[in-house]
Amino acid sequence: MNKTIEYIKKQIKDFQPEIGIILGSGLGDFADNLQGVRVRYNDIPGFETSTVAGHKGQLVFCEVEGKKAVIMQGRYHYYEGYHISRIVYPIKVMKKLGVKTLFITNAAGGVNKRYNAGDLMLITDHINLMGVNPLIGENDSSLGDRFPDMSEIYKKSLIDMAKKKAKELNIQIRQGIYAAMSGPSYETPAEINMLRIMGADAVGMSTVPEALVANYCGMDVLGISCITNSAAGVHPSRLSHAEVVETAEKVKTDFKKLLISIIREI
Ligand code: HPA
Repeated sequence: MNKTIEYIKKQIKDFQPEIGIILGSGLGDFADNLQGVRVRYNDIPGFETSTVAGHKGQLVFCEVEGKKAVIMQGRYHYYEGYHISRIVYPIKVMKKLGVKTLFITNAAGGVNKRYNAGDLMLITDHINLMGVNPLIGENDSSLGDRFPDMSEIYKKSLIDMAKKKAKELNIQIRQGIYAAMSGPSYETPAEINMLRIMGADAVGMSTVPEALVANYCGMDVLGISCITNSAAGVHPSRLSHAEVVETAEKVKTDFKKLLISIIREI
C-alpha cells in the first residue's frame, strides 16, 4: 500500500481527491473529455491488470463540477479470476488518498418485473450472493473494524438528494435492491425467481464488494444501476453482453447528466 500511494502521489503531486467515481459498462467514456492526470492500472504497484474488453483500466484524477475526484475508468470483477481482496484494493487506495464519498455505477439486469431496459435505479441496499466477503483475511484496523456495521451502506441522504436531482432533470428513477452474483454466466430463470423471492430488484456482477469495503472504510456511498436488460426468464429472449452494452450506451446521456448534477450538489 505504501508503494501504491507513493507512486500515485508522484503523479498527482498535492492533488487530494474528495470524491471517488467507479464507471460501469457503457459509462466508461464519462471521463474521456475531462482534463486531468491519468494513471494506468498497469503502471501502479499493487494494482492488477484489468481484462474486460471495453474497460480502459486507469485512474483519472480531475475536477468534476469543482470537486476534486478520482475516477476509476474500468473496474475489477471477481469473475476475472482475481482474489476478492484484489477487487477492492482500489477502494482502500481511494480511502488513503482522502476520498470521502464514493459513487458506484453499474449495468444490471432487471429482476423486478416492472423494470424496463434503460431504467436507472438508485441502490437502496444489496444482497451479497457472490459467495465471498472481501473483508475475509487479516483486518487492517487503520481502515475499519473487524466486524463492521452494514445497516446503511447506501447513504439515505444521498439517495434522497439523487431522487430530487432526477426529478429536476425529468429523469425517471427507480430505487431498489441490488443482488450480486459472481458471474460470468448470466443467471438461470430459476435463479432470477429465487432473487425475486429474496427481495432483489436488480442483479449484477459488481458493486457489492466495492460498496461493502467503502462502507467499512467510513465512506458515504451512492450506487446507481443502469438496468440494461430484463433478467433471465422475464422475456423469452436470450441475454447477451452486446445487448447490455447497447442499452447502457443509449441511456448514458441521462446517466451522465444525473451524475453531474448530484456531484454539483454535494
Ligand atoms: N445479470 C447479471 N449481470 C448483469 C445483467 C444480468 O442480467 N445485465 C447486466 N449485468
